[in-house]
Amino acid sequence: MINPTLSSKSPHFSVMLDEVIKICSPDKGGVYIDCTFGGGGYSKKLLKSSKTKVIALDRDQFTLSIAKELEKKYPNSFSFYEKKFSEIESIASNQSADVIIFDLGLSSIQLNNLKRGFSFKSKETLDMSMGLTNMSAEKVINNYSQKTLSLIFKILGEEKEASRIAKNIIKARSEKKITKVDQLVEIIEKSKKKEYTSKIHPCTKTFQALRIFVNKEITELITGIIGATKVLKPGGKILIISFHSIEDKIVKYFFSNFSSNRSKPSRYFPENNNDKDNDILFDQYKNKILKPSFEEIIKNPPSRSAKLRYATRSKNNFFYPEDLKTKFKKYLDLESSYV
Ligand SMILES: C[S@@+](CC[C@H](N)C(=O)[O-])C[C@H]1O[C@@H](n2cnc3c(N)ncnc32)[C@H](O)[C@@H]1O
Repeated sequence: MINPTLSSKSPHFSVMLDEVIKICSPDKGGVYIDCTFGGGGYSKKLLKSSKTKVIALDRDQFTLSIAKELEKKYPNSFSFYEKKFSEIESIASNQSADVIIFDLGLSSIQLNNLKRGFSFKSKETLDMSMGLTNMSAEKVINNYSQKTLSLIFKILGEEKEASRIAKNIIKARSEKKITKVDQLVEIIEKSKKKEYTSKIHPCTKTFQALRIFVNKEITELITGIIGATKVLKPGGKILIISFHSIEDKIVKYFFSNFSSNRSKPSRYFPENNNDKDNDILFDQYKNKILKPSFEEIIKNPPSRSAKLRYATRSKNNFFYPEDLKTKFKKYLDLESSYV
């Protein structure tokens, strides 16, 4: 167990803070749900407006100390839950929200705490849990079959050399259990082709895949955005900042296919359906992506892969967008595989 007071002292930047706050317009007041509290950057800024009420959540117990300070400062307008955002419906109970924000992935506080094993610079235990999971990268690496490991790296990391990495993990673990990050880094580096010249670190994709798998991030995302859509008021906004192509593909599909200007009707509704507005959850979706400014990327390089999309909830009654789960079934099935 890692001591939650050991969090990193390095600076924490909230990605696209100005852009997020502008879209949220906190001066109008209302109920805001910050689904990924992290270092609390968005929540703090939203609370500056006296008309806002912020409900924040995060699965990571390391965020508790920052959240407690905010609860003390804003006892009537801020509340925090150490929960996963897949539970958003029960957290919101019967309140509906004006704005819901998801800033996906890891915070710099998590990445820079080498004890948590997210960074390939670490020499510590292979953990990679964001919290509220019994899974760890160590369990995955030492127990899953070669076939499943290869699928995890290929599908969740889009790693081209997934098979060779998986094969070498099986070989190495038959000699000695793989418990530390640097052991895994060595295996991955040796598995990659010698002429590997990419600017990205050879471990980036495998580490991304493991982190997604350990935390069931795709299942969380799909369940979380469906729940958020149910909780949003008509006219309310859902904002999602994603950091890799799988996340962005899911968000884009959801907003585009369930909006009033979608190109193809959902396959669950007949094309000649007279009441065609029935299968719409969002108003006109512009398919616009906002990205961090050049200045922000210089100040905070990891922000370079951020993509912000947002959509406005239509007035229609909520219906369950089954199509979203069907479309991304391959990720959901993989995340639910057990040894
Ligand atoms: C990029 S950080 C958010 C940073 C935050 N916006 C800020 O301004 O400080 C992402 C946070 O989301 C949390 N998180 C990721 N997946 C989650 C989930 N399924 N449920 C709840 N929290 C989650 C992580 O623990 C992490 O603290």
